[in-house]
Amino acid sequence: MHDLILTGPALPSAVAALHAEFNVHPFWQADDKAKFLKAHAKTRFVAASGHAKLGAALMDQLPGLEIISNFGVGVDNIDLAAAKARNIRVTNTPDVLSDAVAELTMGLMLASCRQMVRADAFARQGAWTEGPFPLTSELTGATVGILGLGRIGKEIARRCQAFKMQVVYHGRRAQPFEPYRFYASLVEMAADCDWLVAVVPGDTGTEGLVSKEVMSALGPQGTFVNLGRGSLVDEPAMIALLQSGELGGAALDVFSGEPHVAPALCALDNVILSPHNGSATTKTRWAMGDLFVRNLVAHRDGMPLISPVI
Ligand code: NAP
Ligand code: 8YV
Repeated sequence: MHDLILTGPALPSAVAALHAEFNVHPFWQADDKAKFLKAHAKTRFVAASGHAKLGAALMDQLPGLEIISNFGVGVDNIDLAAAKARNIRVTNTPDVLSDAVAELTMGLMLASCRQMVRADAFARQGAWTEGPFPLTSELTGATVGILGLGRIGKEIARRCQAFKMQVVYHGRRAQPFEPYRFYASLVEMAADCDWLVAVVPGDTGTEGLVSKEVMSALGPQGTFVNLGRGSLVDEPAMIALLQSGELGGAALDVFSGEPHVAPALCALDNVILSPHNGSATTKTRWAMGDLFVRNLVAHRDGMPLISPVI
């Protein structure tokens, strides 16, 4: 069997499938990474899972590398330009996770506007005996601006429509066949929205896209929801605006230093935190794992790749 490097811990069913097809070498478990890479320099296959960054330097230490299969649709952990320059194919796991991420987005929005975390504590701690929980807000009739009306963004938009919300979006270009208003300016869209939902990639010029100016425009009555990447937002500015009340709230599934979450965020009660759970359902992760493995097998067998990025 061919050798394969697995960069990080992965779904057990996917790891078992990899072992059935390849000689799997766990990179993250190697005490001496340089020695490991030297020993596996001729390896043609890499299965990328977890937080490992795959840059040019690593690729140069694997001159035999032909394909990187990424567990996840976001490939900001991979230097695509470096891979392309070295004729290394890259695959990801699109579409199979869009519904799960969209569902979590709605869950975070509902939990935020109905203050469900606080309400749970209120009931558990017996505060209800002292009187009713304070009135909250609702999604119906509110305006949601989607930053990134892509595969996932479109699923979020459909669900927001079902909740009787007004849906608008921002991207690099208008999508004329979509039934939502397009905003060429993210700041202008934020100023007109009650909710700003970010679900753009982390590697397409989006670093810091949700700036202090954007969040200030969203304002004290607005809520920022991030399902994309922590790098999309100016996190220190977001924290300061949340602390001052200049930004009404946030619901976050991704963070700049994950799996570490800034203590200042943890201290805020107008924030809901989620540990990068967008695709973390059994059904979805299994489907991702299936793509993760099948792309590698397809390349090994000289067949077309199922979900190529490059
Ligand atoms: P996609 O189909 O490629 O959609 C990306 C959208 O972002 C497109 O509509 C694109 O529109 C827009 N976009 C890209 N660069 C932009 C920029 N610089 N400015 C404004 N808009 C930009 O990708 P997807 O499948 O929906 O996934 C999106 C991202 O979600 C992934 O890359 C990943 O980072 C994240 N994600 C997170 C989780 C989680 O667990 N939280 C799970 C899955 C994915 P234009 O081309 O018109 O700009
Ligand atoms: C991944 C994600 O599961 O697909 C993505 O881009 O963010 C998640 O679905 C996560 O990156 C774990 O590897």
